[in-house]
Amino acid sequence: MSAEPAVPTAFVVGWPIAHSRSPIIHRHWLAEHGIAGDYLRLPVPPDEIGGFLRGLAEGPYRGGNVTVPHKEAAFAAAERHDPVATALGAVNTLWLEDGRLIGGNTDVAGFLGNLDQQAPGWDAAPGPAVVLGAGGAARAVIHGLIGRGFAPVFVVNRSRDRAEALAERFGPAVRPAGWEDLPGLLPGARILVNTTSLGMKGEPPLVVDLAPLGADALVTDIVYVPLETPFLAAARATGRSTVDGLGMLLHQAVPGFERWFGVRPTVTPALRALVLADLGVTA
Ligand code: ATR
Repeated sequence: MSAEPAVPTAFVVGWPIAHSRSPIIHRHWLAEHGIAGDYLRLPVPPDEIGGFLRGLAEGPYRGGNVTVPHKEAAFAAAERHDPVATALGAVNTLWLEDGRLIGGNTDVAGFLGNLDQQAPGWDAAPGPAVVLGAGGAARAVIHGLIGRGFAPVFVVNRSRDRAEALAERFGPAVRPAGWEDLPGLLPGARILVNTTSLGMKGEPPLVVDLAPLGADALVTDIVYVPLETPFLAAARATGRSTVDGLGMLLHQAVPGFERWFGVRPTVTPALRALVLADLGVTA
């Protein structure tokens, strides 16, 4: 049994973890609500994550977030899962119920909450969607889009087998595709989402000819450093609506905070500005 910390405490565990902005978000909410609590970054390497997760039921934490590369390990370690975690096979939020470790996934809520806040009505007339990339983040985006009635969801990926694996996971609504198919998919798309790492600081830009995309299609990116990726800048330059990825990070944090600290927090412009300042990004 670990010693109880002085105040209710949650964590984010990953490897590496130094870059995580989650402590800024949760400490901001703790201060905003006058809660005496804490939120820590815990670096845990892959060969130690199993033992770390098994020990959580003994305390001392209320729970925590799980990030790369431990989301599947957290899924395996949790005794029970919420429906989204089950659908995705990945856990990003852990909490305790009656001494049992429960795993949830709030990435879908983060993706949807961001669009609901930044582009209200974006899902009023769902139709075909195009998702670029087939990694872990794509899973959450696809699940969210299907849940809001978008179909088919075309998954465009460099490695075809990963796109096909997602079609197997999610069923016939998901159609695997290659980059060469993209020009033919864009005219019908209601929404275009980048979930690849292209466009992130230090990575090559994502270059897509957006000319075939409908003028009223929404374009969004899960990358948030830089805040406006070259992909989003190109979409905005042609008059299309765009939503950046920072809100997904902020909104995915909401359900965890509520579980651990008992208050449902709000994603405000002040929180967004705080995280942007820490990222060294100008809005
Ligand atoms: P995450 O879990 O954050 O989604 P990931 O699982 O590493 O990260 O997935 C990264 C995605 O970016 C993948 O779809 C990857 O394509 P592959 O599956 O073919 O690797 C995509 N990606 C990364 N670099 C790319 C590049 N240079 N060109 C095309 N796609 C790229």
